[in-house]
Amino acid sequence: MPATATLKSTYKVAHAELKEWVNQLQAQFEPEEVYWCDGSKEEYDRLCQQLVDKGTFIRLNPEKRPNSFACFSDPSDVARVEDRTYICSRNKDDAGSTNNWVDPREMKQTLRKLMSGCMKGRTMYVIPFCMGPIGSDISQIGVEITDSEYVVVNMHIMTRVGTRVIDQLGSDGDYVKCVHTVGAPLAPGQQDVKWPCNPTVKYIVHYPEERSIVSYGSGYGGNALLGKKCFALRIASVMARDEGWLAEHMLILGVENPQGDKTYVAAAFPSACGKTNFAMLIPPKQLDGWKITTVGDDIAWIKPNKEGKLYAINPEAGYFGVAPGTNMKSNPNAMKTIERNTIFTNVGVTPDGDVWWEGMSKEVPKDIIDWHGKKWDPASGKPVAHPNARFTAPASQNPVLDSEWENPEGVPIGAIIFGGRRSTTVPLVYQAHNWAFGVYMAATMGSEMTAAAFGELGKVRRDPFAMLPFCGYNMADYFNHWLQFGRNIPNPPRIFGVNWFRKDEKGNFLWPGFGDNMRVLKWIIQKISGKSNAVESPIGWMPHYSDIDWTGLDFSVQQFDNIMSIEREQWKAELLAHAELFERMYDRLPKEFIFMRELLLSSLWRSPEKWSLEPETFDN
Ligand code: GTP
Ligand code: SPV
Ligand code: MN
Repeated sequence: MPATATLKSTYKVAHAELKEWVNQLQAQFEPEEVYWCDGSKEEYDRLCQQLVDKGTFIRLNPEKRPNSFACFSDPSDVARVEDRTYICSRNKDDAGSTNNWVDPREMKQTLRKLMSGCMKGRTMYVIPFCMGPIGSDISQIGVEITDSEYVVVNMHIMTRVGTRVIDQLGSDGDYVKCVHTVGAPLAPGQQDVKWPCNPTVKYIVHYPEERSIVSYGSGYGGNALLGKKCFALRIASVMARDEGWLAEHMLILGVENPQGDKTYVAAAFPSACGKTNFAMLIPPKQLDGWKITTVGDDIAWIKPNKEGKLYAINPEAGYFGVAPGTNMKSNPNAMKTIERNTIFTNVGVTPDGDVWWEGMSKEVPKDIIDWHGKKWDPASGKPVAHPNARFTAPASQNPVLDSEWENPEGVPIGAIIFGGRRSTTVPLVYQAHNWAFGVYMAATMGSEMTAAAFGELGKVRRDPFAMLPFCGYNMADYFNHWLQFGRNIPNPPRIFGVNWFRKDEKGNFLWPGFGDNMRVLKWIIQKISGKSNAVESPIGWMPHYSDIDWTGLDFSVQQFDNIMSIEREQWKAELLAHAELFERMYDRLPKEFIFMRELLLSSLWRSPEKWSLEPETFDN
């Protein structure tokens, strides 16, 4: 007997097609009941309490972390699963060599079998959500179907959820269909586990032509909160290609100078490479009068207005940030953002009901519970928190939230920054010669592996535009889209490369990073407004030592040289790696890239073994 949908009489859905879709899924998944989320605080509190009663959530000490919860995931379910992520376009070439592909008809058959009765014993939640401010021309609506309360409460924080979205959708509005199940049906009377998931079978599937998503088997992060990577990047990148805009793995920040002029900057760094840190940066106190405000920390949707000026919104409403390494020194604004109303996943829990992770403080609190939910054994050599442990917190709690962050028009973008995690080769900062070289720079970006990315730790993987796991179509087509996008606007923003992570032979970071990144940002802002100088290097424009504001930081000319020099042999290896990347996508690669690579090679060939900024320019 099919369960009846619990649609409260106050909850009016005018969208017949949506109701029909929900009915079909209900018949297929056979949940115990169907529940339409209204997005209210009462709903959030009730579901959190339900998760506490089930043992999934630990309510943290209300005096230390008001209205906050910790939970531990299944050890098989701790991060995105890139090898289980598919772009099922009709044509294999439209997914490209960097995406997993299966024929959509075949994938649908597989999933149909797998998902029949997949929600037995559970509630099927219907979450209408909006990516971006409700009513903005840049925003998009989705509806996520899920059998996870954890997903519902996280979606409450990360997106705009509920009846206000249903109202916006009206009777025939467009929405992206997002289906999620943990893939763990319950037999009658079967006791549920704390973190239901399917430990062996996971599928994160995108149908770009249909603009729909199906996620099976995982309850964690980007696998399950489908508004984030699945919709706002993979599906949105396809929409953006078709409609002439950009959906990017970028933070957006505002920089205010002492005169009160504000410039907005978008920056793409791969997962766990410092977007949240940079988006909330606190400038060194010696850089008097410079201020940073946050628009977003992970995703940017960028559209040209009628005059061809670029405007960006943050489609999200919260932060799903990496916890380990976050502390009052590295990111005080994040620490303040997560003081209350926050969900912590896979961090440690202290005996007095607070949270802890590696890097939060020097000493590990005594008798701490680790992310396995067990008393931590200091002799184990294992970390207390999982390296990809995360917090989910509302953006509204960020003390440096930008006043325009919900402006439906977006904010004007003045510069775009790309940066990976590179212990050698790539200098602290440089400016691409022009838009096309900037696109080349971003396309060939590399980063050393972290816990959030797949592969051998420390090995460089090419991560074009920090989008390798997030581009919903052929990466070479994506490069072409960026080139074409630049041609269509009269004065595209300047493009910069940065690298906070260069190391000496002993493995120490050469750059203090964090707040001091403001010094680099200040040069960038002054450069784009014509107020700073630069020197042409073999790979782009670079600041002289004297172009950077060193007030309050003891950083010598020699140190600057160590972090800015261009070693010819390293760069030859780098350009060889570019060629390897290009070979993987040769059929659709922009032909310009071949010529730009040759130009770079020949300028390196003409440069000394170690290219340094001219010593005389160090005078100051
Ligand atoms: P996703 O949420 O996975 O997309 O990542 P993110 O880019 O937001 O990553 P996040 O800001 O959480 O990066 C965290 C890691 O970057 C931590 O290991 C930080 O210590 C490190 N990090 C951030 N900024 C700096 C910096 O300026 N210098 C150095 N050395 N490390 C930094
Ligand atoms: C990332 O991996 O880039 C994230 C975390 O932002 S997740 O949402 O889990 O993908
Ligand atoms: Mn991310």
